[in-house]
Amino acid sequence: MTDDAPTPGIRTRIEVMHGVNLDQLGRRDPLHYGELTFGDLERKISGAAAELGLLTRFFQTNHEGEFVEHLHRLEGLADGILLNPGAWTHYSYAIRDALELTGLPAVEVHLSDVDNREQWRRRSVIRELCIDRVAGKGAAGYRDALVRLQQELSR
Ligand code: DQA
Repeated sequence: MTDDAPTPGIRTRIEVMHGVNLDQLGRRDPLHYGELTFGDLERKISGAAAELGLLTRFFQTNHEGEFVEHLHRLEGLADGILLNPGAWTHYSYAIRDALELTGLPAVEVHLSDVDNREQWRRRSVIRELCIDRVAGKGAAGYRDALVRLQQELSR
């Protein structure tokens, strides 16, 4: 076993799920999202996860039903979820219900400071299902979310 291989029996599988328009990072308002591309973001998350000894799988879609069905399929494949559903965060009860049925610990992440933008971004229909929420810290927020999930999974 290599040094960075996860210890057997410890839950380390994190599903990283990005929703609508997140694939367009690099073209979005740099004031809120910075200059990083979606590829840059995934590389940063992968790096942070490797450093923490977590295994990650990535998923992104611009189709709400695909996001829902991906959540349906997670049973037995993931131990925790890190999700940034983009604008769906603010109104998708379908995603809320699918997240609930996974029964997995989840952390909600937003690159931008959603509480200090338009009023409608302050609402999250998934917040009550998540063990934590990180917003406004850019890519660094994903590392915080991974650490939070790791704490939860090692309890
Ligand atoms: C976002 C914030 C949402 O309000 C927005 O619709 C997004 C991205 C964020 O990461 O800051 O697409 O989730």
